[in-house]
Amino acid sequence: MCGIIGCTGVENAGEVLVSGLRTLEYRGYDSAGIAYFDKEKGLSVQKAAGKIRALEEKLSALGEIKASSGIGHTRWATHGAPTDANSHPHGSARVQLVHNGIIENYAELRAELLGLGYVFSSETDTEVAALLLDRLLDAYASKREAIVALTGRLTGSYALGILFADEPDTVYAVRRGSPLMLGVGEGKSFLTSDLTAILTHTRDYLVLEEGEIAVLRDGGVLVMKEDGTPIERPLKRADWDARAVRLEGHAHFMHKEIFEEPTAIVSTLRPRVAGGLPDFSPDGVDAERLRRAERIVFIACGTAYHASLLARRMIEREARIPVECEIASEFRYRDPILSERDVVVCVSQSGETADTLAALRLAKERGAYVVSIVNVVGSSVARESDAVIYTHAGPEIAVASTKAYTVQTAILSLFAVWLARLVGKCSEARARELTEALTVGLPGAVREILAREEEIKALTAPLSDVSYLFYIGRCADADIAAEASLKLKEITYLHSEAYAAGELKHGTISLIEQGTPVIALSTEAELREKMIANVKEVAARGARVTAFAAGGETAHLAEVSDDLFVLPELDASVAPIAAVTVLQMFAYHAAVLRGCDVDQPRNLAKSVTVE
Ligand code: M6R
Repeated sequence: MCGIIGCTGVENAGEVLVSGLRTLEYRGYDSAGIAYFDKEKGLSVQKAAGKIRALEEKLSALGEIKASSGIGHTRWATHGAPTDANSHPHGSARVQLVHNGIIENYAELRAELLGLGYVFSSETDTEVAALLLDRLLDAYASKREAIVALTGRLTGSYALGILFADEPDTVYAVRRGSPLMLGVGEGKSFLTSDLTAILTHTRDYLVLEEGEIAVLRDGGVLVMKEDGTPIERPLKRADWDARAVRLEGHAHFMHKEIFEEPTAIVSTLRPRVAGGLPDFSPDGVDAERLRRAERIVFIACGTAYHASLLARRMIEREARIPVECEIASEFRYRDPILSERDVVVCVSQSGETADTLAALRLAKERGAYVVSIVNVVGSSVARESDAVIYTHAGPEIAVASTKAYTVQTAILSLFAVWLARLVGKCSEARARELTEALTVGLPGAVREILAREEEIKALTAPLSDVSYLFYIGRCADADIAAEASLKLKEITYLHSEAYAAGELKHGTISLIEQGTPVIALSTEAELREKMIANVKEVAARGARVTAFAAGGETAHLAEVSDDLFVLPELDASVAPIAAVTVLQMFAYHAAVLRGCDVDQPRNLAKSVTVE
């Protein structure tokens, strides 16, 4: 939540900061702002409520910005409404800073500063940190010491980019909890919440660790310990390229990212297949620990949680190991029972979700072996896990997660096959069949689905003027219904509920009336007859049924539904994954039909780094 950027040694800091903020806008879009060293006017600040467009308009009225360094911020509001005054940067005539995270003890610090005569111009927790730093500048001989003293006073999470008025063309950075990367180009240096924002300038980076301070100066980066000792750390090279963060002809990132799914599946699965069978040992996963697992506990949030639900189905079916799926924000407050016989799997696209990270730490404390499935290399979840299995989906920019879900479910299915082999529950022939279905069948089926976009789009017509709908399915189809419903709600603002089809008659069916859209999912062919009965129950009460089916005989389902979309032929264990691509596309076109802001739905942020 919130994105920060900083640069030194560039030709036009205004442009560099704003274009970086455009890439980071998915992290929050309530307001944006920059601070920079204007070669004539000194430390200058510009900010505006609303999307980055509003800031750009403000900047274009100012004419050319003559600056080679600065900091920038895009906000997801936590403390205070999305107003100009609450926009970052915050500070004084001596210091300006941008912040990603939450200062938990801000009220107490604010009271202290008010007592010292400080005047606040915003309601934010960030301004408290900025003014406290201003105060500490008087008490310490160096900027470094003042920053260390500041971090000693703050509780909560933060990544800070800091400019001091008396030290032009220098940017300081420090972090705890929130992510912060440092980029190094030719004569230029950067700080960013997410590498994607600086990929057009450099792919060479390092991660700033907690307890370190970075100084960006003269186009280079100095990383030091709190006591000032320099730290030598080799640069890493990002394998994402700048095209990944451009629309490349698509109307929205969500659309582009759905179309990237076949490639993302292949890139993610291929490195984990050897001789036609799954092999996760190159990922450093301790096979012995898994073989001994009495239980697997998935921990995740949102879409990643839904990916876990589908993984549960696959692992229980193929490996016969008990699986539980936990919502991270609930898990840690339940005093969960965990032991070293448990394997915890944390699933996260960003690897920075605060709830997931907190749950991971608790699981480790209680002795569980933690494996994580993460898309962002070097992220906090990845670094704190015992083993990490990276998905190779490339950057996901749209707030609505699509390709990340698809690769998570694909890799977890392959993982299930590996597990099943480890515990001797799956024959080699079956393992080969499933591996082939995942690595060849699935991307092929997704390609076929993408070619049928117009057909999927036509199915959204009944959603143009309704206010709620249902997704129903059984077993794996109930799991994918949850994801399909979340996707639709998040980008269309249409209320939808995902329900286990057999459970509807125990109460919720009273909501079905003439014309209520019901999306019936039936990829579990062996449950087809049961599903047809459930469809008949809602149709008899006036529901307008759009069915999505895979495998087996579909003629009877067609008879009882208003529309039917039949998925390409695919192994039954894998078909639900492909069905989700259809449902993502369905949600996308429903959002376009309803005129919604597809990539930046209201109230949301891509990376939820607050609890
Ligand atoms: O980065 P993560 O996978 O940990 O994020 C978890 C959720 O915040 C995320 O999946 C969210 O639900 C998406 N916006 C859904 O599309």
